[in-house]
Amino acid sequence: MATTKFCTYTLFLLTFAFFFIKLSSSSSSSEVDALLSFKASIEDSKNALSTWSDTSSTHHCNWTGISCSITTTNSPSVTSITLQSLNLSGDISASICDLPSLSHLNLADNIFNQPIPLHLSQCSSLVTLNISNNLIWGTIPSQISQFSSLKVLDFSRNKIEGIIPDTLGSLENLQVLNMGSNLLSGTLPLIFGNLTKLEVLDLSMNPNLESEIPHDVGQLKSLKQLMLQGSSLQGEIPPSFVGLLGLTHLDLSQNNLTGKVPQALSSSSLKNLVSFDVSQNKLSGPFPSGVCKGSIINLSLHTNAFTGLIPNNSIGECKSLERFQVQNNGFSGDFPSALWSLPKVKLIRAENNRFSGQIPESVSEASQLEQVQLDNNTFSGKIPQGLGLVKSLYRFSASLNHFYGEIPPNFCDSPVMSIVNLSHNSLSGQIPELKKCRKLVSLSLADNSLTGEIPSSLAELPVLTYIDLSDNNLTGPIPEGLQNLKLALFNVSFNDLSGKVPYSLISGLPASFLEGNPGLCGPGLANSCSDEAPRHKNGGITTITCALISLAFVAGTAIVAGGFVLYKRSCKGNNNEVVVWRSVFFYPLRITEHDLLMGMNEKSSMGNGGIFGRVYVMNLPSGELVAVKKLVNFRNQSSKSLKSEVKTLAKIRHKNIVKILGFCHSDESVFLIYEFLNEGSLRDLILRPDFKLEWSVRLKIAIGVAQGLAYLHKDYSPRLLHRNVKSSNILLDGNFEPKLTDFALDRVLGEAAFQSSLDSEAPSSCYIAPEYGYSKKATEQLDVYSFGVVLLELVSGRQAEKADSSDSIIDIVKWVRRKVNIANGVQQILDRRISSSTTCHQEMVRALDIALRCTSVVPEKRPSMVEVVKSLHSLELRTCIADLQDQPPNEEPSNIPI
Ligand SMILES: *[C@@H]1O[C@H](CO)[C@@H](O)[C@H](O)[C@H]1NC(C)=O
Ligand SMILES: *[C@@H]1O[C@H](CO)[C@@H](O)[C@H](O)[C@H]1NC(C)=O
Ligand SMILES: *[C@@H]1O[C@H](CO)[C@@H](O)[C@H](O)[C@H]1NC(C)=O
Ligand SMILES: *[C@@H]1O[C@H](CO)[C@@H](O)[C@H](O)[C@H]1NC(C)=O
Ligand SMILES: *[C@@H]1O[C@H](CO)[C@@H](O)[C@H](O)[C@H]1NC(C)=O
Ligand SMILES: *[C@@H]1O[C@H](CO)[C@@H](O)[C@H](O)[C@H]1NC(C)=O
Ligand SMILES: *[C@@H]1O[C@H](CO)[C@@H](O)[C@H](O)[C@H]1NC(C)=O
Ligand SMILES: *[C@@H]1O[C@H](CO)[C@@H](O)[C@H](O)[C@H]1NC(C)=O
Ligand SMILES: *[C@@H]1O[C@H](CO)[C@@H](O)[C@H](O)[C@H]1NC(C)=O
Repeated sequence: MATTKFCTYTLFLLTFAFFFIKLSSSSSSSEVDALLSFKASIEDSKNALSTWSDTSSTHHCNWTGISCSITTTNSPSVTSITLQSLNLSGDISASICDLPSLSHLNLADNIFNQPIPLHLSQCSSLVTLNISNNLIWGTIPSQISQFSSLKVLDFSRNKIEGIIPDTLGSLENLQVLNMGSNLLSGTLPLIFGNLTKLEVLDLSMNPNLESEIPHDVGQLKSLKQLMLQGSSLQGEIPPSFVGLLGLTHLDLSQNNLTGKVPQALSSSSLKNLVSFDVSQNKLSGPFPSGVCKGSIINLSLHTNAFTGLIPNNSIGECKSLERFQVQNNGFSGDFPSALWSLPKVKLIRAENNRFSGQIPESVSEASQLEQVQLDNNTFSGKIPQGLGLVKSLYRFSASLNHFYGEIPPNFCDSPVMSIVNLSHNSLSGQIPELKKCRKLVSLSLADNSLTGEIPSSLAELPVLTYIDLSDNNLTGPIPEGLQNLKLALFNVSFNDLSGKVPYSLISGLPASFLEGNPGLCGPGLANSCSDEAPRHKNGGITTITCALISLAFVAGTAIVAGGFVLYKRSCKGNNNEVVVWRSVFFYPLRITEHDLLMGMNEKSSMGNGGIFGRVYVMNLPSGELVAVKKLVNFRNQSSKSLKSEVKTLAKIRHKNIVKILGFCHSDESVFLIYEFLNEGSLRDLILRPDFKLEWSVRLKIAIGVAQGLAYLHKDYSPRLLHRNVKSSNILLDGNFEPKLTDFALDRVLGEAAFQSSLDSEAPSSCYIAPEYGYSKKATEQLDVYSFGVVLLELVSGRQAEKADSSDSIIDIVKWVRRKVNIANGVQQILDRRISSSTTCHQEMVRALDIALRCTSVVPEKRPSMVEVVKSLHSLELRTCIADLQDQPPNEEPSNIPI
């Protein structure tokens, strides 16, 4: 009996255990089945879901994009699937609804091309559905109400059309609803009052909505972000908006809204507001007065809409406001003055309205202010001194107003100031010395009543590119130094200037920029100067001298180890001192330092070498040629660190970068041994009078150079900068495959020595970006700029630094910037030897555009080399067949005036 009992008990236990094991393993295997069946309907062209496989030993919770949590059954269960940006297409299958705990599904940024996957409403635990940025099409079905558990629904950036069904209003759990950037149309239904938990509502960029803003949106007390921009909305801003007390971001811009901004909205709802944008509408009337002043608000006017608590009087102070944009409307009346001294405000845009008022001195309290645009209003008063105390200001533009008085001397004290436009006002007095704003790019003071001379300190602002001082009463000469700037615009017409116009300004600018100054003289002007005797070379003409810094001699005793071959030899130097040579070859060269030294003579020297030293061509015993660069001006670093630096460079293997084969150094000199390329440099090629390389080859060269730089910047470890990109450092092989040389010599020379060599050339080199003038920091953007210059050379067929008839250096960037601003200028830039073939023409214009972006004055605006490679590749894909034989006759004058 006891035995039977025992048996039954055991059996029971076994059965239970078996059942339990079966249960848990089946729940796991059914999750695997669900996922595999989901995968089966998906097209995965990049094989991003390779880990999703039942043969893999990986637990399914560790598959790509899957997250699990321990659930009630005590085994991990899938709760979240995140498969964004994987180029997935095919069908979104409902089989994932067999995952009992799935609560988050993110399929954003793929290429699913189907209607809204309504069947996912079967997923009973689903809380988040994100199918943003796919190719989802069709209308929103009325059965959307089946997604009743959803808290986050994002189907923005798709092609969903038609009206928004009333049934959407039953998704009462929604906290985030993003339907932006679709093709929705019709009138917005009155359903939003039901979505009381909404924190984010985005209906922006649906250009066919043509609806009024539903007034029940104003009832959403939890709403933080309301994005309704660019959706053709009409009518007035509902007064009910006063109820939006939690709002942080309000964007109603780019619509057709009319009427006034409700008084109560601006006073009570701004409490938490960070960004307020009603720009580009047809709003009018005065802007609510007292806004942001923190006054007590009389809410009884709007009690029908507002049911919340009466706010206390700290409300309305806009302590959080950062961006305030009301531009391009018809607002009139006084601009709300409290805005000028908000602690966090960064951006104020109010241009193209009819605002009046003054900027108070208290603007100095707006210590985060970056950008102010007030153009085309009726602001008046003086420019306050307080503005000069705001050290974050980078743009101040207030043209077409009634500002008067003098420009305060501290006006340009913000170290980041880039754009100043005070044109078309009534300013008087002198132009102050603008010395501290070293990043000033554009200065427009046209059409005022300014007097006195043009301050010569302008010439010391390294990136100043646009200067418009026309229509004032300025006197005196044009400062000579201005010709050293890379000016694209210099308009001083209609002043009372006199004296000799600096030569490069005359030759480089349209005559109309100088007209209306009867006292000016110079070649090509109505008056020739009295001292028109033989012209002296002036400050603008710089003779490049190589600063050869004498080398200190220190007897080194460090012992070098490693390298393929290591030689150590002594030989007698000129001064009978014993010089110890050490060589490290990364390639079996079978050459001694003695051979190197003997081989280095005038005969084997190539040109005058670069700024870092001469290059010699040498014949190895094997018959191979190598290029040997003798570095001058190198620091006395230990041979150990020297070796490791050169080794870093020598390990680079990229088809667009010249190989370093080895090096050899004494305490005085370093010789770098490079592979030799027979075809010379890109510069040699461009200089040839018969240079007529077809566009496809030029593009190939550009892409190669860009790839080489992108490799140094992003792929190579450690990341390197080239720091001396120019056409003479781009060597070509027989197939016009470019190879960069002279790269990253800062590593070998040390920063100080590198810079002093570079500086010996910098002021006159047009390959060096203007910001190098004020910041010696080595950046990728400096390389990008130099690359842009090379690309300009390829597009225009001109050498970068061309001496004109009078020996002035014409910088290609300056030259191109001026041309692009004038009619037909682009045609004059493109190399006419190839541009007339119409199919290539477009590609060349695009390449020019890339080059202009690379040579942007503002470093942040330049693309990365990786982006450049992409853009250039996209040009390559377009077939462009240049047929040089069938050129139509050249209609434009062959001599471009510079
Ligand atoms: C996932 O992988 C990690 C290590 O890669 C491992 O520790 C963990 O146990 C795995 N999870 C599952 C559920 O297999
Ligand atoms: C993305 O998927 C499409 C279609 O499946 C395919 O044609 C394309 O090559 C894929 N793109 C990438 C980058 O994998
Ligand atoms: C949806 O996914 C995209 C891409 O990851 C993301 O930018 C967006 O913020 C997500 N939407 C929501 C509501 O979280
Ligand atoms: C709004 O909510 C109420 C009460 O919950 C409900 O009766 C009504 O049908 C909902 N309206 C819409 C449009 O879903
Ligand atoms: C504004 O309305 C006018 C006509 O009423 C229309 O032509 C225009 O396209 C609309 N603009 C926007 C941004 O919706
Ligand atoms: C508030 O508004 C009500 C209704 O318009 C008005 O009667 C009352 O005088 C106002 N109170 C204040 C303090 O302005
Ligand atoms: C006003 O409300 C804010 C929070 O909303 C609170 O921090 C502050 O103390 C209140 N001020 C007064 C005077 O009640
Ligand atoms: C100035 O603003 C008005 C609208 O207030 C606009 O019609 C006009 O075109 C603007 N003028 C300029 C020069 O932008
Ligand atoms: C500026 O010049 C204009 C005309 O040349 C003259 O009418 C005006 O009085 C001058 N203004 C000042 C302040 O010198």
